[in-house]
Amino acid sequence: MAGNGKERKGVSRREFLKVAGTSAAITELLTGHKVEASAEKVVRIPRAQTVTVTLRVNGKVYKLQLEPRVTLLDALRNHLNLTGTKKVCDRGECGACTVLMDGKPVYSCMMLAVDAEGHDIVTIEGLAKDGKLHPVQEAFVEHDALQCGFCTPGFIMAAVGLLNQNKAPSPEDVKKALAGNICRCGVYPRILAAVLDAAKRMRGGA
Ligand code: FES
Ligand code: FES
Repeated sequence: MAGNGKERKGVSRREFLKVAGTSAAITELLTGHKVEASAEKVVRIPRAQTVTVTLRVNGKVYKLQLEPRVTLLDALRNHLNLTGTKKVCDRGECGACTVLMDGKPVYSCMMLAVDAEGHDIVTIEGLAKDGKLHPVQEAFVEHDALQCGFCTPGFIMAAVGLLNQNKAPSPEDVKKALAGNICRCGVYPRILAAVLDAAKRMRGGA
């Protein structure tokens, strides 16, 4: 303790914090030996390598320079500014990032952008045509099938993927097809009703 006449040994927290950030100064403080700053090793981090990735999204072709590790989700959101596709868990558990690849739903967070080359990608932004919402979008609005809306693009894309393959799904078919999508607000009954209604409209039974 300062002022009690005893000599302190070691390094105080205050002294350590004063020099923190310069490794030479920390080494000098802890060892008592002078370290020449020029002797510090400069670690150079190599620049990330990028590759050219060609993506076909919502009918348009884009050429992007991306690190090979970039997911399709990050390419869509961060490089194409298509932020309708949501990033929630980023590990294949919630379905918020669902897009269509060649008409089938995929988790875009679980796919590398380079692996999406040569495929047709459709995001929520690509569903409306000539200013008219897709029937699934219309049904979600009419059935009020959302609260916060964060899961909604993923549910809609998964539902469109289902209806691309099954024009007359049963309630069980819809539940099974949407089992990979999570809604924290819990509007599942309205989502189910909206998808069944959209299927009916698309068959011309509205
Ligand atoms: S963000 Fe892709 S599954 Fe959750
Ligand atoms: S509407 Fe909020 S998470 Fe589904």
